[in-house]
Amino acid sequence: MNCDVKTVIAPVNIAVIKYWGKRDEELILPLNDSVSATLDTSVMCAKTSVCANPHFAEDEIWLNGKKESFSNQRLQNCLKEIKQRAYNEKSIDDIFLTWKVHICSENNFPTAAGLASSAAGYACLVTALAKLYKVKSDISSIARLGSGSACRSVYGGFVRWHAGVNPDGSDSIATQIADSSHWPQMRALILVVGDTKKKISSTIGMKRSADTSELLKYRVQYCVPKRTDDISKAIKEKNFGKFAEITMKDSNQFHAVCMDSYPPYVYLTNISHTIIDLVHKYNEISGETRIAYTFDAGPNACLYLLENEVPKVMSLIQHIFPSSSDKFVTGLNFKEEGLNEEFLK
Ligand code: ADP
Ligand code: DP6
Ligand code: CO
Repeated sequence: MNCDVKTVIAPVNIAVIKYWGKRDEELILPLNDSVSATLDTSVMCAKTSVCANPHFAEDEIWLNGKKESFSNQRLQNCLKEIKQRAYNEKSIDDIFLTWKVHICSENNFPTAAGLASSAAGYACLVTALAKLYKVKSDISSIARLGSGSACRSVYGGFVRWHAGVNPDGSDSIATQIADSSHWPQMRALILVVGDTKKKISSTIGMKRSADTSELLKYRVQYCVPKRTDDISKAIKEKNFGKFAEITMKDSNQFHAVCMDSYPPYVYLTNISHTIIDLVHKYNEISGETRIAYTFDAGPNACLYLLENEVPKVMSLIQHIFPSSSDKFVTGLNFKEEGLNEEFLK
């Protein structure tokens, strides 16, 4: 190791079966399994540079050009775990572990607005640190210590995060359901409805739901296990209709859980609801389910659809939202490690 700067980029992933609620806050262990698709980095990504130097006095981090506090426990846990691995793997000389580290990270899309910035951000951070300290072992479980959803962004294609049952989290791992070449016609359109920081972070929101929502208990026990199996099968069989139906139902149930929490909190706006209505209308007129929507903890829509549907859906969106069309950006498809860029004008 020397004072080189290591820079990496990492993708966002948008869940189709949502992770919402923890059974362990410190280890970031979820109440339920979740499933997501990892989007191509050509449109949306986090970019992180790290370096260590014997002359640095402190560990420091800059996020989107602004200095942030390093006292953030999750950040410290990630760095500590990477250094522990480096020590165990004897990947670098021990002296380097005493050097302080500087981290600089940027997202090229809205941060903390329900577009999975914490997933891309921590996957990126941990991958960059692993490169710096030459850690070879799997780092998904370290990314999880930064943000739960980040453990899925380490893999491409469709990914399942198994909740696991072990108190130490050793079986709470992400695995690939299918790689990015499996369903080459799949696309995602990201509709940016609002780019401001959400009032209730995902961490705070899901804690409130875990503490107060009866619906969340029902969801975890009776809905998610079957949905997770069914959507994994739909993905493997490339059954779009089934995939889309489960995706939309799970998004709706997640947002119902937010409303069922006490006090309730709401991520969707009127525009989000207009998009939901539009998708259902489009599917109804088509006579089959051709588009799926899903919303993370924010107002922004992610539409999953097949390639041949993209031009029609894009012009429809332009038609319905003519004045605000410059706010809509599209991303995702699964070509190689990624997606065709499609931009609405
Ligand atoms: P999102 O819906 O965007 O994932 P969250 O509430 O889950 O929003 O998380 C947002 C937080 O994630 C930010 O306030 C910040 O602490 C962290 N985060 C986002 N991007 C990065 C990044 N590139 N590097 C490090 N941390 C990040
Ligand atoms: C709605 O992973 O951001 O996007 O683990 O507390 O950092 P923390 O939360 P986070 O939650 C993601 C919630 C979600 C659904 C999902 O990505 O599965
Ligand atoms: Co997040």
